[in-house]
Amino acid sequence: MDEVTFKSDTVLSDVHLYTPNQRHLMVRLNSTGQPVFLSHFKLVWSQDSQIDLRTEGGDYRDVPTEETLAGAGSPGSPPGSSCSSEGSPLQASTDATGQEGAGAQLDEDGDLDVVRRPRAASDSEPAWCPRDKVHPMILTQEEDDILGDETQENSTYDIIRIEHTMATPLDDVGKQVWRGALFLADYILFQWDLFQGRTVLELGAGMGFTSIIAATVAQTVYCTDVGADLLAMCQRNIALNSHLTASGGSVVKVRELDWLKDNLCTDRDVPFSWSEEDISDLYNHTTIMLAAEVFYDDELTDALFKTLFRLAHKLKNACTAILSVEKRLNFTLSHLDVTCEAYDHFHSSLHQLEKHRDGQLRFTVEPVEASFPQYLVYERIRQLELWKIFVEPVT
Ligand SMILES: C[S@@+](CC[C@H](N)C(=O)[O-])C[C@H]1O[C@@H](n2cnc3c(N)ncnc32)[C@H](O)[C@@H]1O
Repeated sequence: MDEVTFKSDTVLSDVHLYTPNQRHLMVRLNSTGQPVFLSHFKLVWSQDSQIDLRTEGGDYRDVPTEETLAGAGSPGSPPGSSCSSEGSPLQASTDATGQEGAGAQLDEDGDLDVVRRPRAASDSEPAWCPRDKVHPMILTQEEDDILGDETQENSTYDIIRIEHTMATPLDDVGKQVWRGALFLADYILFQWDLFQGRTVLELGAGMGFTSIIAATVAQTVYCTDVGADLLAMCQRNIALNSHLTASGGSVVKVRELDWLKDNLCTDRDVPFSWSEEDISDLYNHTTIMLAAEVFYDDELTDALFKTLFRLAHKLKNACTAILSVEKRLNFTLSHLDVTCEAYDHFHSSLHQLEKHRDGQLRFTVEPVEASFPQYLVYERIRQLELWKIFVEPVT
């Protein structure tokens, strides 16, 4: 395999889209046979070198040093924006394939399927948008003992190493790293004192990036998601970065928490199930809930809000949920307009929660100004939003 193959239901996180491919090291196959890549996300600490890519179309050349590009989320721009639109691979108008108009190019939901213009031999690669092919480097089946050497050899304190897959079907999006995870991680790094010594629960943690950052300051992080193979990858990432978290005495516990189920699984035979001690620790001590980039499907959004609501009622203390969301704009022929339905649904769910009155808890919703510093390399587009929900007992 030397190229990622795209099918109609394939999604690729923007974090990986413009990553210089020499940073993509394919390391192994996971337990379900998917190729796993290793990316390094570098923290940029110094005030001088903080990345200023907060506006859409931020130029690749704005990044201070080549070294800061080590993060998997190199700050390219979406196709057709900062890369010169002339000759952009995603031109929707008549292209070399001779496709005119959009009538026949709708997916099942009615979204416009834009056909990529085949690369012509004469196409020159813009120097600042490198898109080399992904080359497999080492190919081994998953082995438990690989971690031993890797964790010791790579105990650098400003690099987070994440194994992930690329270009997955929608069901497996959690095996990629999403921009919202980096955005929320930036906020944690900025407001680290809010997290210090806390017990934190992350919902839909995917590859564990945000949980790892949270665990650099928190006492305990429950890093939760669904699916044994995804959770195994997540667990491996926690181990790969244990030097960042364990040195401060923090504990990251990877557990299954399915928003579509009412109870936490305590069956010992099920991987990543909960012990009774975990559950009482979770309920007695959690004061922060996190969720990054989990609002892309209305049913799942409903399930997540239901979970949040249910958990909030079980927690002993007041808590704050911090949610990151990317307002994804799609042109649909059914609306003949650009819409962001998943975001609209998220937004109305926030308001419903705020209006809820049950005499026990009060939910107060507040947007967070996205002006906090950027410590990680990704494109801080203005569609990235952070929301806080304060949950307090009604007195
Ligand atoms: C777009 S990914 C975001 C992953 C990660 N937070 C990030 O930003 O990189 C959405 C996540 O929601 C998780 N998810 C989807 N349905 C879920 C469910 N029913 N219960 C728990 N997690 C779920 C997926 O497995 C996936 O990890």
